[in-house]
Amino acid sequence: MAGGNAVALDDPVGASLRGHHAHLARGRGGAVSYLPGVATFSAVPVEAGSAEWADLARLLGPGGFADMFDCPSIPPSHWEPVFVLGGRQMVWAGAGSRVPSQAEARTGVVELSPGDVPEMLDLAGRTEPGPFWARTLELGTYLGIRDNGTLVAMAGERLRPPGWTEISAVCTAPEARGRGYAARLVSALAARIVSRDERPFLHVADTNTAAIALYERLGFETRKPVTFRGFRTPVSS
Ligand SMILES: CC(C)(COP(=O)(O)OP(=O)(O)OC[C@H]1O[C@@H](n2cnc3c(N)ncnc32)[C@H](O)[C@@H]1OP(=O)(O)O)[C@@H](O)C(=O)NCCC(=O)NCCS
Repeated sequence: MAGGNAVALDDPVGASLRGHHAHLARGRGGAVSYLPGVATFSAVPVEAGSAEWADLARLLGPGGFADMFDCPSIPPSHWEPVFVLGGRQMVWAGAGSRVPSQAEARTGVVELSPGDVPEMLDLAGRTEPGPFWARTLELGTYLGIRDNGTLVAMAGERLRPPGWTEISAVCTAPEARGRGYAARLVSALAARIVSRDERPFLHVADTNTAAIALYERLGFETRKPVTFRGFRTPVSS
């Protein structure tokens, strides 16, 4: 099957920031972070020590939000924990049991552009699929479905470690759920990703059983559990 080495999936933020998304990155020493407005994720080397955490503190500034994704290293104890969230990383393992046909996956699906961002922010705010910001669509292709002109569903490409593309921001307005829109959008994105010889993957919170069931029906399987963590950098050193 097409796609990259699964090791890249153990540090998808760092691998994206140092590679495909380098133009959307800022760095200091061993620390890297997405530009403000694109994403909040930061990364340090896998074996980070106090020097690399100090680099990140300088990069983000005093009291800055260090959204560490599933980073295995833990910052020094005087960094304030902000959140911990359990989830899973899923990888596309080939077409699942309920995959829309290619023709169906494309039906009514439009590519979203910067002019759509206000509506995308509104939809993400109403459905909470995960973090979505004013410049997030610069990370990749975002697709949507409109109902009488109103954006009611979207999904897009986020992290890009070598050989892989993450599908993210999957959401459908409450009044448009159960019509297969999310299945259509995820399938359309997966087809695009596979067509350029990459493999789709994604992350989902453990509590989101509806989304997990949908992804499994579409052909994703769990690769590993993940723990998302966020911290605040020290206000003074
Ligand atoms: C998860 C979510 C994207 C699913 O969107 P959707 O467009 O309703 O998904 P689909 O219609 O493609 O599939 C939903 C499944 O639930 C079933 N379903 C039936 N009625 C439903 C309803 N009222 N609401 C939701 N799902 C319903 C569908 O039939 C389908 O099952 P099937 O594949 O066996 O037919 C949507 O619930 C959502 O936006 N949730 C909040 C944001 C979120 O958690 N996103 C995922 C982040 S990882």
